[in-house]
Amino acid sequence: MPLAIITGGATGIGAAAVRKYASEGYDVALLDIEKEASLALCNEAHSGSVTFYETDVRSRKAVQSAVSKAADQFGAPTVLFSNAGIQRLSSLFDLKAEDIDAIIDINLKGTLYVVAAVAPHMRDAGEGSIVLMASDQVFAGKPGSIAYGASKGGVAQLAKSLSVELSPLGIRVNAICPATVKTPLTDKIFTDLGNKHYDGDAEAAWKAETDTIPLGRIASPEEIANIVYFLSSAEASFMTGALVPVDGGFTAQ
Ligand SMILES: NC(=O)c1ccc[n+]([C@@H]2O[C@H](COP(=O)([O-])OP(=O)(O)OC[C@H]3O[C@@H](n4cnc5c(N)ncnc54)[C@H](O)[C@@H]3O)[C@@H](O)[C@H]2O)c1
Repeated sequence: MPLAIITGGATGIGAAAVRKYASEGYDVALLDIEKEASLALCNEAHSGSVTFYETDVRSRKAVQSAVSKAADQFGAPTVLFSNAGIQRLSSLFDLKAEDIDAIIDINLKGTLYVVAAVAPHMRDAGEGSIVLMASDQVFAGKPGSIAYGASKGGVAQLAKSLSVELSPLGIRVNAICPATVKTPLTDKIFTDLGNKHYDGDAEAAWKAETDTIPLGRIASPEEIANIVYFLSSAEASFMTGALVPVDGGFTAQ
């Protein structure tokens, strides 16, 4: 069975991707810091297996060790979905150094560590497909999301330069750029926004967000995982270096 490595696969979009690949017959290596939710996914019944490697993507050493363990067990990875990420909203004037560091370390440096660990296996196998998790902030500015936007802009540039460097080796690299998706990450954000701006009414905060999306609703994690799967598949064999909006029309406005 082919191997897909997925970071940040414990919850949200990553968990939907773990289920998608495992149900399509991939063995999935799930790299995450969140143990309980990851182990629950390992116990679900799918045609492919799910194996958890407890890994903090901030540590290049930990990432390299998890990727080599997975490759020893299952062979060279065919697919990488680098998805682990965090968001911490803050106005520029309140931005804490520790939040800048955490966002850049996980979202940007973590992505590069994972790609650098996986790509040699794909190079030796002569094939592979990498999908990087970016954001609609590749194309649009958002207040209160300065460091996050910069981290995702960096991820988009990684997809471009990596695609050019890795194309001759048979490795494609694309980035997916979703608008708001209903996940544990956004549940926390919209609870906070509800408390801050809507008298504790998180639903009102969600409604205001929904009103910014031309399709008039928030994406499900599965709607993003399906496009990740497509981008990594042979159906997308001539796509590389693409920044793909999956945003209900948000950045078309
Ligand atoms: N939800 C959205 O609206 C949205 C929109 C655009 C992009 N994204 C991006 O999608 C990705 C997944 O987000 P989500 O919304 O599913 O959130 P989520 O919080 O449900 O998932 C993030 C996952 O990353 C893991 N993670 C966090 N820090 C880690 C670390 N240091 N090492 C390894 N794993 C770590 C978490 O444990 C979790 O499983 C993120 O990169 C996020 O920026 C989300």
